[in-house]
Amino acid sequence: MDLLLGVMGDPIVQSKSPVMHGAALRALGIQGAYVPLHIRGGQLGEAMQAVRTLGFRGVNVTIPHKVAVMEYLDKLDESAVAVGAVNTVVNDNGVLTGYNTDGIGYVRSLKAEAVGDLSGTRILVLGAGGAARGIVSALLLEKPEAVVIANRTADKAGELAGLYSSKGNVTGTGMADISGIIRSMDIVINTTSVGMFPYPDEMPMDPDLLHEGMVVSDLIYNPLETRLLTEGRKRGCIIHGGLGMFVYQGAYALEYWTGQTAPTEVMRQTIIDCLGGSAG
Ligand code: ATR
Repeated sequence: MDLLLGVMGDPIVQSKSPVMHGAALRALGIQGAYVPLHIRGGQLGEAMQAVRTLGFRGVNVTIPHKVAVMEYLDKLDESAVAVGAVNTVVNDNGVLTGYNTDGIGYVRSLKAEAVGDLSGTRILVLGAGGAARGIVSALLLEKPEAVVIANRTADKAGELAGLYSSKGNVTGTGMADISGIIRSMDIVINTTSVGMFPYPDEMPMDPDLLHEGMVVSDLIYNPLETRLLTEGRKRGCIIHGGLGMFVYQGAYALEYWTGQTAPTEVMRQTIIDCLGGSAG
């Protein structure tokens, strides 16, 4: 039987997951399809039932359904419990299990492309929204020396830090306070949407605060190189873009669905071709 997969979100037309997973299935020689599914909030329960009825092996779940979908699943993997959100659903003969591959996908990419070992590092996370939440939880598994979350709204940074205080040394602060601490940081990670297409000139922080040799990482992959990364590179920083996170969150999902190793280079190249190598 063909392998049925898809991605549920609202909106969904912009999603690059169908093209990436389509290429991956072809590369693996698997007969099947990965389709975009436009699902509105009120339809989420029915959509999960449809996954069972139609025999989908699994789906990705994206904005705005990552939290709401949890109540329609039979089981939650530890990764989903830790983050409080699901981006991947696996259907085992009608039993639906929710996973979160965003955070572990990001960390796999950071380690593969920028910092082999995160233990003992000092990490500054910019932003305290849903994206930051997944990242912080996965970063703490790597035993960094410290994680500082800086956010425009300082209270939100403190709240997020509080959620994970039993998992490691995590604190929250206001974005305005980073000038005092950034010198002691090894890695800075932008989890905000500042700098994303169609506003590629914006930056979440003053780039003059970056120092030579530090790692500057951005979750944004459109553009492939954000202005923050360009400015970091000019200042002698090691830069790391968001494409790898997108590829590896998809790779983990595909591995859960198929049991096979995902063709990550094919997946990466498909997205680069699709973005035209620039801001497209
Ligand atoms: P996501 O799920 O993508 O993380 P979110 O939950 O809406 O989205 O969070 C967006 C994050 O980007 C927040 O940390 C937000 O800061 P506030 O909590 O102060 O709103 C941050 N953010 C968005 N636009 C920003 C801007 N122009 N300057 C600084 N931070 C911004």
